[in-house]
Amino acid sequence: MSKKRDYHLPSLKDAGRRSREEVSVETFSLSDEAKKLGEGKTYYIRTHGCQANQRDSETMAGILEAMSYRAAQKPEEADVILINTCAIRQNAEERVYGEIGALKRLKKEKKDLIIGVGGCMSQEEESVKTLVEKYPQVDIIFGTHNITSLPALLESVVKEKKRKVEVFSRQGEIYEEVPVTRFASHKAWVNVMYGCDKFCTYCIVPYTRGKERSRRKEDILLEVQDLLKEGYQEVCLLGQNVNAYGKDLKDPDGFGGLLEEVAKTGIPRIRFMTSHPWDFDDRMIEAMKKYDNLMPYIHLPLQSGDDEILRKMNRRYTSESYRELFDKLRRELPHYAFTTDIIVGFPNESEEAFQRTLDMVDHCRYDNAFTFIFSPRIGTPAARMEDSVPMSVKEDRLQILNEKIAFYAKEANKKFEGRDVDVLVDGLSKRNSSVYSGYTPENKLVNFKGKDIHIGDIVRVHIDEAMSFSLNGTAIEKDPLF
Ligand code: 5AD
Ligand code: SF4
Repeated sequence: MSKKRDYHLPSLKDAGRRSREEVSVETFSLSDEAKKLGEGKTYYIRTHGCQANQRDSETMAGILEAMSYRAAQKPEEADVILINTCAIRQNAEERVYGEIGALKRLKKEKKDLIIGVGGCMSQEEESVKTLVEKYPQVDIIFGTHNITSLPALLESVVKEKKRKVEVFSRQGEIYEEVPVTRFASHKAWVNVMYGCDKFCTYCIVPYTRGKERSRRKEDILLEVQDLLKEGYQEVCLLGQNVNAYGKDLKDPDGFGGLLEEVAKTGIPRIRFMTSHPWDFDDRMIEAMKKYDNLMPYIHLPLQSGDDEILRKMNRRYTSESYRELFDKLRRELPHYAFTTDIIVGFPNESEEAFQRTLDMVDHCRYDNAFTFIFSPRIGTPAARMEDSVPMSVKEDRLQILNEKIAFYAKEANKKFEGRDVDVLVDGLSKRNSSVYSGYTPENKLVNFKGKDIHIGDIVRVHIDEAMSFSLNGTAIEKDPLF
């Protein structure tokens, strides 16, 4: 006989439904009791996955701080540990399980420790079942639409000492005025839209993050203006598919219009992530030509260079239309850098199909690419497709592709040798603390020598040497008269 569940399982099927219902905009608020719950207590957040998760973790931190919790430096020192999870590929999930497993020991030593699991894995029914059944150390499971419920969830776990699961499988609303504690003081993520309606057949995101919904332009601009006042040098406008910005709001100016407005705020550096080749329009290109605080960098996911695979992926473009768009962007924006995402080993990918992906890489000569082996995600159409390609073949293809990508990355970086570039400084390099690191406008990582340099400075750097995935340089000393 099966045990009766005392919690609701999420449903990917429900989460994949779309209606024409309008998205509601809610305002966040906290009760007086919640504002004091964390007095004398600390929190630690571990983030997996993409920029949307990074930004969500900043919201979680903001909410916890509004509840009087303070940040701990290490998980061992924290009273509340939140793990913000990623479900994009199986190996991302495995890392999360490993990490939660390791927390069991901490929980034994510290009975009052509260462990919460949020993010995309919490939206999946199988993962929630596993977490509930095999990981008793987890006290709270909350979905991507339930971050604003953290105060109520924490309150009830503290009071009732019972596990809480709250995951909504609905399409999602928009919350404004939610507290945020940003993890950096010089560059910031700004959500412009949430969710995705593209339903690429391999991808779990439309299910875990709900319907495509845009924030109101005035809310976005207010956020950017505040960031500018606080001294931020860079904003990255975030969305699973930013080109679709404004469609749900019936905003005729779309993302191109938003880019212009954000550029006009005068914030020094603006980036955006991610563009789908679908509906990348001329208005966007016009804005990019006009404003030099729009950084010369576009991430344009290809996924595959083969028409049959693209069709099975439901990508809505052909290799020819991708190539046309790419050539146009190169022509109109010659100083731009381009990167991409590519999946190898999609079900039944033939040798010829893989070759067409390599041909496209030869054509586009990307500055860099993120490459992946297809990972079947339960609940997505591609996970149900027949696949006769052995894993060893997929691994070989990934290696061949990566070698090609590295070749073109180095070729693109070589063009920077001997040039002077502006680098927004992130701090000391993580790999070598005797040099600083930061990014050029084209999003090239630069490691450089220099003195009297601070996080958030924009420093002129002479590039001495190009590596495949970074540039080495030396800061140019400022003229003491200026
Ligand atoms: N398997 C492998 N890669 C995937 N991506 C998304 N879903 C999967 C999957 N199931 C890749 C795509 C996407 C990037 C963020 O992750 O290339 O652009
Ligand atoms: Fe996933 Fe496709 Fe949406 Fe990107 S556009 S999040 S790959 S479904």
